[in-house]
Amino acid sequence: MKKILTIVGARPQFIKANILSIQLEKYFNEILVHTGQHYDNDMSDIFFDELKMKKPKYNLGVGSNSHAKQTAEIMIKLEGVIEDEDPDAILVYGDTNSTLAGALVAAKMNIPIFHVEGGIRTHCKDMPEEQNRILTDHLSDLIFISTSNNLEDAISEGLQSRSYVVGDIMYDSLKYYTALVENNDFLSMLSELKPLYNAERKDIKEYYLFTLHRPENTDSIDKIKKILDIINQLVTPAIFSVHPRIKNIIKEIYKNYKKIYFVQPLSYLQTLYFSKKAKKIVTDSGGLHKEAYLHGIPCVTLLRGGWSETAHDGWNHFVNIEHLKEAINNNDVKWDSPREEFGDGNATKKIVDIMLEYFQRSKEC
Ligand code: UD1
Repeated sequence: MKKILTIVGARPQFIKANILSIQLEKYFNEILVHTGQHYDNDMSDIFFDELKMKKPKYNLGVGSNSHAKQTAEIMIKLEGVIEDEDPDAILVYGDTNSTLAGALVAAKMNIPIFHVEGGIRTHCKDMPEEQNRILTDHLSDLIFISTSNNLEDAISEGLQSRSYVVGDIMYDSLKYYTALVENNDFLSMLSELKPLYNAERKDIKEYYLFTLHRPENTDSIDKIKKILDIINQLVTPAIFSVHPRIKNIIKEIYKNYKKIYFVQPLSYLQTLYFSKKAKKIVTDSGGLHKEAYLHGIPCVTLLRGGWSETAHDGWNHFVNIEHLKEAINNNDVKWDSPREEFGDGNATKKIVDIMLEYFQRSKEC
C-alpha cells in the first residue's frame, strides 16, 4: 500500500480530511499530521471527537505566530516527520499557512504533492490565502479542483495537465453529516450552544447565523463595532459564533448588543444544523458561504474574492461594510434557481481514483 502523509492544521481542513480519509483508507496507508495552527478545543479537538476522526500521529504544536514564523516552524518540524515516514506523496488542503508549509517542504524533498481545493483564485494577491493557493498549486503534481471556473484559472496559469475537476469535497461531507442532524429538535440544539461570557440566551426562533474572522474585518475594534451595530439593528436576531481571534474585544462590548447571541465556536455538526435552519447566513468565511449555497440558504459575505459561483440569482451577495445592511435586508433570491457548480457530492471517490491512476502511471514510467 502506498503511504500518504496528510497535513492539516486549521478547522476546515479537519472536516475535509475526515471525509476523504473514509475513502482513502480503503486503498492507502494514510498518516495524519496536525500542524497545531489551530489548537483551542473549539477550533481543533472538538472536530476529531465529534466526527470520530482518525487521530493525528503527529501534532507539531506550532500555534499562532506571524505568518513567516508560523509557516517556517511548520516547515522545520515537518521535515523531520517526512524523513521518518518517507511517504509516497503528501496531501494538503485549501489555502492556509499549513497548506503552503506542507507543499514547500515536500517539494524540496521531491515528494509528490496532491492539493485538494486547488485552482481557486480571487486575484487579491495581498491576501495570505491567495499567496498560499498560488504557490501550492504550482508545486503540486495533482490539483483537485472544485468548479469549472477554478479550472479556467488553473489553465490560464499553465496548470492544465495536473488539474482535475472533481467537484467540491465539502459537499460530500455536508450531504453525509447534514442528514445525520437535520431532524434534531431545535430547542435542544440551541441549548447545547455554549454562550460566550455567560451571554444571555435569547429566545430564538428565526435567526441569522453570523461569523467573522478575517483580519480585514476584525483588525480594529471600530470595524467590529460597526459590523455589530448593523447586525444588532436588524429585525431578526443573530447567532454569532465567535472566533477566538476576537473574543477579547467581544468581552468588552458584547453587553451592548441585545439582538446578538454570542456563542463559542460552533462544532461542525452544529454549524451544519444552524446553517440549514437559518433565515440567512452572514459571514466572512470562505467555506461557510459555499456551504450556505449548498444548503440552499441565502448568504451575505463580507469578503473580497470568494466563490463567485455562489453569487447568481441572489443566493449570495459579496459586500463591504458599507453595503452590509442593505444586502442583509435584500430578499431577491430566486428560490428555484439551480445550484450545480460544485458537482454531485462524490468528490472523494473521484480524488481517490485519480490518485490510484497517478501511482499506476508512475509505475509504468
Ligand atoms: C486560518 C486561515 C484561513 C482560514 C481559517 C479557517 C491562514 C493564513 N488563514 O485563519 O485561511 O479561513 O484559518 O478557520 O492560514 N487563534 C486562537 N486559537 C486557535 C486558533 C487561532 O486563539 O485555535 C487566534 C490567535 O489569536 C491567532 C488568530 O486566531 O493569532 C488567527 O489564527 P490563524 O490560524 O493565524 O488564522 P485564522 O484567522 O484562524
